[in-house]
Amino acid sequence: MAGKKREPLSYKLPEEFHVFGFSRDLLAWYDSQKRDLPWRINRDPYRVWVSEIMLQQTRVETVKPYYRNFMEKFPTVEALAEAPEEEVLKAWEGLGYYSRARNLQAAAREVQAKYGGIVPDTPEEIATLKGIGPYTAGAILSIAYEKPEPAVDGNVMRVFSRLLYMEDDIAKPSTRIKFEHLVRQTIPHGRAGDFNQALMELGALICLPRNPQCLTCPVFDYCLARREGVQEELPVKGKAKPPRPVNLAVAVIVRDGQVLINKRPEQGLLAGMWEFPMAETELPAGLEKEEVLLKSLRERFGLEAEVTERLTPIQHTFSHLQWNMDVYLCDWIEGGDLPLTARFVSPEELGAYAFPAAHHKILQMLAQQTKSDLM
Ligand code: ADE
Repeated sequence: MAGKKREPLSYKLPEEFHVFGFSRDLLAWYDSQKRDLPWRINRDPYRVWVSEIMLQQTRVETVKPYYRNFMEKFPTVEALAEAPEEEVLKAWEGLGYYSRARNLQAAAREVQAKYGGIVPDTPEEIATLKGIGPYTAGAILSIAYEKPEPAVDGNVMRVFSRLLYMEDDIAKPSTRIKFEHLVRQTIPHGRAGDFNQALMELGALICLPRNPQCLTCPVFDYCLARREGVQEELPVKGKAKPPRPVNLAVAVIVRDGQVLINKRPEQGLLAGMWEFPMAETELPAGLEKEEVLLKSLRERFGLEAEVTERLTPIQHTFSHLQWNMDVYLCDWIEGGDLPLTARFVSPEELGAYAFPAAHHKILQMLAQQTKSDLM
């Protein structure tokens, strides 16, 4: 096969790094200082799995109440596999990155069907499940099954960049692979799960992105960046592209005290979540935003509406997009050839539907206005 020759992967720990003392001291610290977290009450692989999915891109304190509620509603792989998707999305509402919830349920269905409800315990099998990347695979295999697998996320890369004084750009995929090789060499056999969680704990409590708490660090003596006084300059991280702005007009259409909501497509951003109808307002050129919106309502829902009030604009930023939303309160005039995805619902019924954060902000605005007798 033509193409670039691959470098052999033989990353070695620096000779001056004392791996044995480091693992020992880190574990001793973890044993005495670890936080009491709801996913640490046992090592049930399903519980570990759910926690690791929730903790991707989300802070521990935010996750805690969601995790408790989720485990109460869906305590087993089977319960999650059999639940209606709508209920799963509702339980995830507010956590963001909703494809995590959909993938988790799809994977639970696969585990139920293919493995009789037992989460697989090999890297090869677990990696085939939807939503389980290298980090999550390593976390589940080590925490639930005590397999000596690395679990390298951004926090662990920060810790190791400093510990080993490495200047590799952690935004590059190849850097994570390098760190996985290095972390693998530090995992003490028999305590892989605790060791990986200790690294996460160190990143969360001591080795902070800014102002690392070196004076209380249990592995201060081993840290090569600290020895040179450069810990605050690490890790090196290339700049991500700024989110692309998308201008949108949103319609809150009121008919007989009910509002129109629509389910987003089953694929793509916020798949399967509910929202107020929206239209992108960049095109066609020459049309006012309101006109673009009303035209789109005619085309998509066969209805005529008129704008009665412009509400406070709302911004919502995703990792790659920024929604700039102009929100229009509208009165229904006539028509309504609604697709199966759309329906008018009463304010009391809105709570049963899962809305993304951007539309929750609109719901909050409406709740305030309803108090002053809008609907
Ligand atoms: N972040 C990701 N996984 C975690 C875990 N198991 N405990 C604490 N923080 C985490």
